[in-house]
This record gives sequence, structure tokens and C-alpha cells, in this order.
Amino acid sequence: MKATKKKGLALLASVMLVITAACGGNAGTNSPSNNESGASNTPTTEASAAPSPEQGDKKITLGFSQVGAESGWRTANTQSIQDSAKEAGFELKFSDAQQKQENQIKAIRTFIQQKVDVIAFSPVVESGWDTVLKEAKDAGIPVILTDRAVDSSDTSLYETFIGSDFVEEGRRAGTWLVEQFKDATEDVNIVELQGTTGSAPANDRMAGFAEVIASNPKLKVIASQTGDFTRAKGKEVMQAFLKAHDDIDVLYAHNDDMALGAIQAIEAAGLKPGEDIIIISVDGVKDGFVAASEGKINFIVECNPLLGPQLMQAVNDVMEGKEIPKRIVTEEGVFTSEDAKRELPNRKY
Ligand code: AHR
Repeated sequence: MKATKKKGLALLASVMLVITAACGGNAGTNSPSNNESGASNTPTTEASAAPSPEQGDKKITLGFSQVGAESGWRTANTQSIQDSAKEAGFELKFSDAQQKQENQIKAIRTFIQQKVDVIAFSPVVESGWDTVLKEAKDAGIPVILTDRAVDSSDTSLYETFIGSDFVEEGRRAGTWLVEQFKDATEDVNIVELQGTTGSAPANDRMAGFAEVIASNPKLKVIASQTGDFTRAKGKEVMQAFLKAHDDIDVLYAHNDDMALGAIQAIEAAGLKPGEDIIIISVDGVKDGFVAASEGKINFIVECNPLLGPQLMQAVNDVMEGKEIPKRIVTEEGVFTSEDAKRELPNRKY
């Protein structure tokens, strides 16, 4: 498909979606940042001010194993959890797994030895959790999943899963694209930057997107590879895509950080992101919003990282023996470039 035609479509897309776009959550108190630094995997304790009302003088101790610090989204998520635990008066033992499942398993075992009251974690990948979850269950420690799911068939191994519907996020990305190219007469060549291999958001965002674009045979995914949710890998893989394919019409990136890395590669190749190549990404972090407001990202599907308050509420409920829903879905929106321009001053993370 020719670049001029794409420019027209990009413009039309922006105009149309100003009208239809929904608004996402923008409450938050986190500072924007993006680092891939390797924080320690040893659980650290964050002392907090107020004693928990639930246990008299004894604070509730929450062991939390985080995925890592791979993206702006993750940084905001960590901040939300740390702030909310402090506000709730919990003692938080926080561990950074540096994107490695074995580190998370180790951290969970440490939490069990430390006899924490509740364990929460955001699993790096979906599979391989049954053994350690059984160990927690045998020790009588309730487990809460946040952000990412596990594929264990025994759902009694955890209390609830709080987080986004990643399949729906993929569908939202696909639905927007189908609408933009509904009159296409030529093939539309799509490249996809997947998240971490085996992770729930990578699996689900890919599936939801594929499901929806299947309705138009002109929409063709010509290459799909992992960029591990990082800016550096997003750039590297996009460079390889551009080398291998000279007619890329669309980039679908599973998060903003990979899209931002890809934008660097696209610009270095002398092309205009958002015009020569239409870009769709997921998350809606501040840096993604900046790129969208500059017209470099055409459409962002929101994934809300501010899960801390919901998690602390669930911990309290579990400690009080209350029944909680097995699945708590986060509410999210979508943003065009125009929406991003408007929302940017309010975006806190
Ligand atoms: O699990 C949520 C995903 O993980 C976010 O979309 C991505 O940015 C993060 O690394």
C-alpha cells in the first residue's frame, strides 16, 4: 500500500476516533520513568506508619513478587503497589524477579518460609506454577494474582486474579485497524512486536488481535516476533523487520515501550512513524502519550497499571475471611492521537 494513501488513512483514523474513543483511567500518583535496571531479587521490607486495624498491633505482612522493571508500565505498577501498601498500613516484602520465573519461584518460597500473611505476584509467564502454589496452599498462605494470569487448572490455588482482560485489549487494537482499512483493495502488511514469550499479555494480545483481523483477508501479519516488552528489543526487532520487508504498512506493538523503540528504528530508516507506518500500541504510559500526541503512534489501547488499591482491598478482604470474586477486571479505555493530546497533561505515569 502506498505511503500517500496511508497518510490519508492515518488522518481519517484520527478524525474518526476523536468521536468514538473512550476515556481510560487517569487517576494516579506515580512519576513517569522507564528503567530496565536489575533490582535485587531479595525481598525487601517496607515499613509503614499505621498499624493495621485487622490484626490489632500486628501489621498484615504482604509478600509481593514483581515481574521486573522492563517498562514504564511496570514502574508505575510497582509504585502503585508500594504506595497503596503503605497507605493500607501493611508490611510489604517486595521482590523484583528481573523477568525470570525461577526468581519468582524462589521469592515465593522465601515468603512461605517467612510466614507472610498473604502472597501476591504478577507471573512472568503463564505456565509452571502448580508446585509452588501448592506449597503456599499447604502452608495455609493465600495467594492473589495481579496483572498476569497463570494457566493452572486448579483455581483453588489462588484467591483471585486482579488485572486487565488482555484478549479484549488485542481485540480493541484489531477492531480499530479493521475499521481503518475496511475499504482496502490491496494487502495491508502488518508486523507485530510481541511481549515476553509465554506471558499472558503476549499470548492474549496476539490472540485477540488475530481473532478480529481475521474478518478482513487483506490484513496480513507478515512478521511477528518478541521484543520482550522492552524499548531496546523493540528497536532491535523493528530494525530487522525493516531490513527484511520493504512494504510494512502497520506496526502492532504489545506495549508502548516496544513501540517507542520501534519508532527510533523507523525514523533511522528515513520513514515517518504514524504516517508511512501506522502504529498501534498497548499501555498508555506518559511516553506513549507524548508519541501519540505527536502523531507517531496512531492508536493506544489502555492497560491500567494502578492495581495497588484493588490489591490491598483484596488482601484485607481475604484476611477478614470475606468471599471475593475469582476474577476482578480492570476498567480501561482507548486513545487516538487527538485523545492523547488532550489527556497528556493529566497523565501521571
Ligand atoms: O503485564 C502487563 C504488561 O507488562 C504491560 O503491557 C507491559 O508494558 C508490561 O511489561
